[in-house]
Amino acid sequence: MYTQSMDTSAAERGGPEDPGLQRRFDARIDAGDFIEAKDWMPGDYRKTLLRQISQHAHSEFVGMLPEGHWIARAPTLKRKAILLAKVQDEAGHGLYLYAAAETLGQSRDQMLAALHSGRAKYSSIFNYPTLSWADVGTIGWLVDGAAIMNQVPICRCSYGPYARAMIRICREESFHQRQGFDSLLTMMQGGSAAQREMVQDAVNRWWWPCLMMFGPPDDQSPNSAQGMRWGIKRVSNDELRQKFVDAAVVQAKVLGVSLPDPDLHWNEARQHWDFGAIDWAEFWQVVGGDGPCNQERLAARVKAWNDGAWVREAALAHARRQQAPAPARRQQGQEDISEVTA
Ligand code: 3HC
Repeated sequence: MYTQSMDTSAAERGGPEDPGLQRRFDARIDAGDFIEAKDWMPGDYRKTLLRQISQHAHSEFVGMLPEGHWIARAPTLKRKAILLAKVQDEAGHGLYLYAAAETLGQSRDQMLAALHSGRAKYSSIFNYPTLSWADVGTIGWLVDGAAIMNQVPICRCSYGPYARAMIRICREESFHQRQGFDSLLTMMQGGSAAQREMVQDAVNRWWWPCLMMFGPPDDQSPNSAQGMRWGIKRVSNDELRQKFVDAAVVQAKVLGVSLPDPDLHWNEARQHWDFGAIDWAEFWQVVGGDGPCNQERLAARVKAWNDGAWVREAALAHARRQQAPAPARRQQGQEDISEVTA
């Protein structure tokens, strides 16, 4: 596990103007070494990592909301237990990632303040509503499927704490994807005509936003070139999107659903599936805060933070008490007892 140390002063000593440190850093990146929290790193490398990891962590946290909506409405006890476990996993992923970002010198409170004030980004996909139970299975199959496609390469990211956090996250995401597929398969193979229609409707609504998850096309992605150079990003947005489409087409056939794209066809020369134009205007609108559920999602996170204030205060008071010297603790304990018995 990472140290969660916020003391990055040693790593920052030298500064970007020190050509020796910069050369050694570049050589380690070229050799495929992991950079660790206490190692020297250029300021822009740190900034880029913080940008990506905090966005990723916020996506996991906000990502609990669309599915969390269905926990109390799950059709069976088994599905409810699976969904509960999955949503808890997403919270855990957020925590691993906030911890990884803390090793770079930014506290969780700082990152959450940026989220709550609307300054920090999170994935566009979580700003769409979950209208039926089939949306839960579709999120598992397609959204978690897209997330795995994007996140497996991050297990080889050049920053050690992020790469290690991703290994565990990817294992759990893979369970998430399978449970979603299994839920949809049950409805498609054993369900009524209405249930099959519900699945098709959910797939129709989630397909295009899932393709947007991978980010803008490579030639319009301002961060890609440097991210690839530093080994933070290993595979480009467009390549990952194509891999996802190729996998999803085969899986859709097994499920018996169609994908809502008339331009989807096998390209023999490329050995890939061609697909239609993505509505990038919609993507930027959602990223800019004007998607179907942006306001609702942010309001839910702010409310959860405010409602949890008493828990944080109690935990801090308890920690302070544990740190107090033993005689003071005994005295505090006696005072507490006399308060209760008074
Ligand atoms: N939603 C919101 N913003 C997005 C986005 C998306 N789907 N895709 C790109 N953007 C933003 C970028 O953050 C960047 O904005 P910024 O410069 O203000 O930070 C801008 O659009 C331009 O995009 P780039 O391609 O230049 O940005 P990156 O090189 O950072 O690539 C990325 C974007 C591929 C999303 C990359 O950041 C990444 O791989 N992140 C890690 C994985 C991640 O965050 N996944 C989010 C989903 S997590 C999830 O789905 C949870 C699971 O439980 C389902």
